This record gives sequence, C-alpha cells and structure tokens, in this order.
Amino acid sequence: MMETQLLSAHSPQEFALASDVAAGIIQAGGLVAFPTETVYGLGANALSPEAVAGIFRAKSRPQDNPLIVHIAKAEQLEPLVQAIPPRAQALIDAFWPGPLTIILPKTERVPLSTSGGLDTVAVRMPNHPLALVIIEKSGLPIAAPSANRSGSPSPTTARHCVEDLNGRVELIVDGGSCAVGVESTVLTLAGDVPRLLRPGAVTVEQLREILGHVEVDPAVEHLLDPSKPALSPGMKYKHYAPKAGVLLVSGSFEQFARYAEQNKAPGVWALVFDGEEAGISLPAITYGKEDHPEEQAASLFTALRRLDEVGAQSVLARMPDRKGLGLAVYNRLIRAAGFKVVEL
Ligand code: TXA
Ligand code: MG
Repeated sequence: MMETQLLSAHSPQEFALASDVAAGIIQAGGLVAFPTETVYGLGANALSPEAVAGIFRAKSRPQDNPLIVHIAKAEQLEPLVQAIPPRAQALIDAFWPGPLTIILPKTERVPLSTSGGLDTVAVRMPNHPLALVIIEKSGLPIAAPSANRSGSPSPTTARHCVEDLNGRVELIVDGGSCAVGVESTVLTLAGDVPRLLRPGAVTVEQLREILGHVEVDPAVEHLLDPSKPALSPGMKYKHYAPKAGVLLVSGSFEQFARYAEQNKAPGVWALVFDGEEAGISLPAITYGKEDHPEEQAASLFTALRRLDEVGAQSVLARMPDRKGLGLAVYNRLIRAAGFKVVEL
C-alpha cells in the first residue's frame, strides 16, 4: 500500500497545482488517475515499460490487454505509428480532440507492454482540459486505461477512483464527473476495412459519414467463442459487472413490470429508465430517460455501482435502444449481464 494523494482541480489555482503535481509524477514513472471527457483514466508514461507495468499491477489487469496512448498534440502521433494514412487523418480532423481511439501499426518506440504484445497501438486525444494539460506538462504520451479495478464498472467520478484504487496509485485528480460516461469509440485502421471494436460517443453512423464502409466487430453485440482469439483483447473479459447477477429484459415497459412482479423477492432490484420507478413493484435504480442515450451513457456506470451499494443480489434491467450512442450503452450493459437476456 502507498499513500494516495487526492487533489481537486476546481478553481484555476487548484487546476494549475494539480496538473503540475500530476505531470511530475508521470515523468518520475508513477501513476495518476485523472478525468477525461469519457471516464477517468489511470495514466503512466506510455514509453516506459516499468511505468506501464505499474498500471497492470494497480488494476490487476491481464497483461495481454493493450492500453490506449493519450496525446495532446497532433505532432505526438507521428513517432508512435508507422504512418498516418489519409483515412486516419480525416478522422483526426473530424473528431480529435474527442472520444475516438484509432488503432494503427506501431513503431519500436511503443513498448510491447503498452501494446499488450501486439504490433499495433491505440491512440486518442481526449477532449478534457485537465487531461490535455497533464499530457502537455509531462511532455510524454500517457498510457491510460479506465481507472477501475479490472472487471468493475469504469469510474466516472473521483470517488469511484478512490473506491477502486486508493493505496495503489500516487495521485487521484478530482475534476468532477465525466460528461460522456462511457469509454471512447475504438476503431482499428490496421486491416483493409475500418472495423469498430468498441462503440462509444463517436457513433458508427458518424464514422460511416467520413469513411464510407465501416465493419462492426461481432464482439460488439454478441458473445464470442472464448476459445477463439479476439481482435480487441478487452472484449474477452467479463466487464462492467456489479456483484449482483444482471439479467437484461427485452420487451415493453408493461411486460417488464409484469415480469418484475412475478420475480419479486428479497435482494431483487430493477434497473429502469427515469420515471418508471413508480410503475414497478421492485426497488429500482434509474439510468436516464428511455429516449435519451446520452443520459443513459452518463449515468450507467454510477447506476451499476449504486446496485452494489444497496446490496442488490440480482438485477432485472431494461433493454436500451441500439441507435447512435445507444449501441455503446447496450454493449456495456450486455457485458454487465454476462450476455444473459430474456425476450418477453
Ligand atoms: O475512453 C477511454 O478510452 C478511456 C479513457 C481513460 O481514455 N480508456 C479506456 O481504456 O477505456 P481501457 O484500457 O479501459 O480500454 C481500452 C480498450 C480495451 O478493450 C483494449 O483491449 C482495446 O481498447 N485496445 C487497446 N489497444 C488495442 C490494440 N492495439 N488492438 C486492439 N484493441 C486494443
Ligand atoms: Mg477499461
């Protein structure tokens, strides 16, 4: 156990101090949890195998699960990748800084521990003032997975980071809650056809407007054969899961309410859309309005953590729509449910 410092960055003075301290720790090879617009990241010097090893230890993360490298300026991309093809440049112009991670063949400068042993590297430029200033002040590309313990829901507040990482990292910077609430879109440009590996706030629809054809990896919506290698190693692991067993329930609200009534028992909770609590006979946590995927994304991970806090043993969850950002919400929730779905 180490002493974890917590610094808030709300006033301009605090922002300057926290980003100075954070950059110094990164330069010295240490670990800092900091906010991005998607979720909090657990950052370390991406070019140092020793610093990166610290990330895997702190998170108890499997070694073959590669990290995203965060940069603050376009010039920082060049030394990390073999080439910047025109379609990558078009995406960068359209979406950076922002919640889009692009995978390209890597150079020797990127250690294999950062890329999980792969010959590609995932890079993104986050759209958050604290993240950008910490990267700039450190003068380094920063490897940062989500700042949760491996397997638990990604953190969207500094408190979530404290719950998971207190005593395991040098510093947690509190910059308030994350606006998007689910992790970045991950797109690989390492193959012939651009392929979506993880849906996020830059939607498939938006990617197709720039690139034309984009394939959606089957792992985004379906359970893969665990004996086959996954294109995105992160997709193999059970993820975002609260301690309770989650069952995703597909059907109308009326059908859901009837199903909830039939399955009423101590420890059974519902995860429903805003305003539906009063219409069901189970205790409930909400995750945004039914027709509002942005709200659902922003509140999903807090809702999953709340279900643990209230001691839920099992959870019946309402099925989100898969259009736009809804695909990202569905992708996280189906993993939280271990792909258990009931169709009414
Ligand atoms: O929004 C985000 O992306 C956040 C914030 C902190 O930036 N970061 C994040 O990192 O979600 P992480 O490590 O929790 O998720 C990275 C995902 C994993 O599923 C990983 O397997 C995949 O990206 N990934 C990273 N590098 C890859 C590569 N070279 N090839 C295929 N998948 C890769
Ligand atoms: Mg993660």
